[in-house]
Amino acid sequence: MNHDIADPSLAEAGALRIEWAEGRMPVLASIRERFEKESPLQGLRIAACLHVTSETANLMTTLRAGGAEAMLCASNPLSTQDDVAAALVADGIAVFAVRGEDNDSYYSHLREVLDADPQITMDDGADLVTMVLKERPDQRLVGSTEETTTGVIRLRAMEADGVIRFPVIAVNDSATKHLFDNRHGTGQSAMDGIIRSTNLLIAGKTVVVVGFGDCGAGVAARADGLGAKVVVVEVDAVRALSAAMEGYTVATADEAARIGDIFITLTGNLRVLRGEHFELMKDGVVLANAGHFDVELDLGYLADHSVGKRRIRHELDEWTMKDGRRIHVVAEGRLVNLGAAEGHPAEVMDMSFANQALAAEWLAKDGADLENKVLRLPDSIDQEVAAIALEAIGGGLEQLTPEQEEYLSSWEFGT
Ligand code: NAD
Ligand code: ADE
Repeated sequence: MNHDIADPSLAEAGALRIEWAEGRMPVLASIRERFEKESPLQGLRIAACLHVTSETANLMTTLRAGGAEAMLCASNPLSTQDDVAAALVADGIAVFAVRGEDNDSYYSHLREVLDADPQITMDDGADLVTMVLKERPDQRLVGSTEETTTGVIRLRAMEADGVIRFPVIAVNDSATKHLFDNRHGTGQSAMDGIIRSTNLLIAGKTVVVVGFGDCGAGVAARADGLGAKVVVVEVDAVRALSAAMEGYTVATADEAARIGDIFITLTGNLRVLRGEHFELMKDGVVLANAGHFDVELDLGYLADHSVGKRRIRHELDEWTMKDGRRIHVVAEGRLVNLGAAEGHPAEVMDMSFANQALAAEWLAKDGADLENKVLRLPDSIDQEVAAIALEAIGGGLEQLTPEQEEYLSSWEFGT
């Protein structure tokens, strides 16, 4: 455990932020209340590798309320909120994470939580599960859960290679996760990170969104709402067409590179903006990545082809190219919403983490009978989570009449 983060004043600040988030997480609160009565996770050790935020802290305390011993390491070296880590440590939850840690420390923290011999792991990006499968053939898990798109893609590749030896729940595949967290969470918090680090006016700027999946669609909508001219770069024709019909300009990366002021990558793919694009960009552009890994912007090219780099603002580096053009990179090309802002708001993490808590309960109850595959949570859980979240934001839910139910299940349409 990192005893150096057990600082009382930091812990107090973290506890207040955790409390603020807690008040905006009604679905998790209802699960916590039930967990306190039923103890469905009694006797289990759960190791989570998630962004260490005030929202994640509320998931950790919910797992503990269910009877688990919950421990946490970071899923990105730059996403740890040290005040939250300190508050959790003060509250008796083991945390292995420090903001800005180097790669060696990041991986040694993963090893430390696995050394505690957990029965369930929770990942955001599949790093823990990859370590178990690659390095620990004797480690027996009841199962594992996965939070993000890139993690699920990695897991499906492992499944295709036949190496998965316990059930893994793809929480990202639940509608109440990706339709809200990826879209509305990333949409708001990625723009928040760019604004906090640059304080640029978005209105009138050309904002290039690379990747128009759930995350990209969310960022495009928020940039549009702030008055930007939105340009979308996509490799999937259906998604590119969908962006065009939303009213955005759709262009190749080369075309977009020439006209963009701010670029945001959200593809989960490698070097989507690279040297050939950087060479076409205007002086003063801002580059940010919100995809899971820091591989979407080819920062190696900037290191090799620039004449200097300086930190010009909080989480903003200015690279000067040989021809004098300046290229700005937010949060070292790591997840901009967590590196330069506070991550998604609690209201969306509520649903994501409600799904995580229910996935842990499912594994605890039925893990031994589940197939050693990548699995989705049942649709009924989506309905349950959405209904509580809807009630919390004041929406009314219409009910089918018995006559309508019968009509929808019959062949006799239109009569
Ligand atoms: P997605 O699969 O729905 O969308 C990705 C899109 O990128 C696809 O439409 C794909 O066609 C496109 N793409 C791939 N390569 C491309 C290229 N070279 N150029 C242009 N487009 C390309 O995924 P998503 O759910 O939107 O997630 C995107 C990334 O964001 C993933 O890495 C995911 O793990 C991550 N994510 C981050 C956060 C966050 O908090 N920042 C939250 C959720 C997901
Ligand atoms: N991923 C994106 N935002 C997050 C948050 N606030 N907490 C945990 N994981 C996140």
